[in-house]
Amino acid sequence: MPDLHTSYLGCRLKSPLVAAASPLTGKLDGIKALRDVGIGAVILPSLFEEQITHERLAEQLTAVGVRSVGKPGGLSPGEGALSDSISGHSGAPSYAYGRSAEHYLELVRAAKAVVDIPVIASMNGTTTGAWLDYAQLIEQAGADALELNIYYIAADPGISGAEVELRFLEVVRAVCDSVRIPVAIKIPPFFSAPAYTIRSLARAGAHAAVLFNRFVQPDIDLDSFQVIPTLRLSDSEELRMTLRWIAILHGKVDCELAATTGAHTTEDVLKLLLAGANVVTMASALLRYGPRHILEIERELHTWLDDHDFSSVDDLRGSLSQVHSPDPLAYERASYMKALLNYRGPSGE
Ligand SMILES: Cc1cc2nc3c(=O)[nH]c(=O)nc-3n(C[C@H](O)[C@H](O)[C@H](O)COP(=O)(O)O)c2cc1C
Repeated sequence: MPDLHTSYLGCRLKSPLVAAASPLTGKLDGIKALRDVGIGAVILPSLFEEQITHERLAEQLTAVGVRSVGKPGGLSPGEGALSDSISGHSGAPSYAYGRSAEHYLELVRAAKAVVDIPVIASMNGTTTGAWLDYAQLIEQAGADALELNIYYIAADPGISGAEVELRFLEVVRAVCDSVRIPVAIKIPPFFSAPAYTIRSLARAGAHAAVLFNRFVQPDIDLDSFQVIPTLRLSDSEELRMTLRWIAILHGKVDCELAATTGAHTTEDVLKLLLAGANVVTMASALLRYGPRHILEIERELHTWLDDHDFSSVDDLRGSLSQVHSPDPLAYERASYMKALLNYRGPSGE
């Protein structure tokens, strides 16, 4: 039987399939269900910078005798509603978006106590500041590794791309210098030179790059005249950008590569491994089909590897990355011309 073991963030995982941060991994029941179907590791939902700074502000205000605005440990009322809709109240430890940082540390401890697969905690923010102290607390709570999601929208016309990159590097350096556990950086694709940026992040101490953050895109409600954030689950079509960059970067940067966004099927997973991913993380597919989806993918992975004479995932990894591909330019501009020349209309006639 082909070996699915994979190395990621200092751990040897029994599968390259990893549960991405989502409400499913915020509940102990969800984590156990994922362990039961053979997931390689779980990434907990994020502890957000806004949450921590809000809590600290509330504490400081209380200390000087001022009544705090909003509920302690919470985000804004609108964000609280999200937490209520996804939390689940089974009595088992769970962490819903917007609950206190202490709840988060409790989930890390509880997850480590009940499952024997690696537990990767997640922090989500954009600045260097006191909120980063939580990286150490997360490490002390027992997390095997930390994913840092720098979910930053560069909306200020006065801030250049170079400044944005510097900011990313400062945050990464601050976190990597403060903990001993490996740190993965989840980043957006919007850099003018993603390869250079990712190499710089690795040099700043990142053990892995997680490609790519999927931004929640706003929409406009024509009736209420309000801007509404919409969270739609992904589909396999969204895989391609991650596929390209993992293939380009495999073997060229000094860090591991994790795929996120658009992995739903066995074919999707195989493509990302062939491109060079160390692990393939999934959120939408697990939310849509449930943890048992992993069983089917792993069964099909075994069959495919067997049929194609690969003895292990390690054997297969990167076989079609840019450095190993028979057509390396297919990952660059050349594929654009080829695609235009081959276009045959909407129904392919
Ligand atoms: C409901 C939901 C909640 C999520 N929460 C987080 C989070 O807390 N932190 C984070 O870094 N990513 C979060 N994500 C993003 C996922 O981890 C993942 O990167 C993204 O959904 C793309 O992967 P997918 O195509 O497999 O869904 C969330 C996604 C969904 C759908």
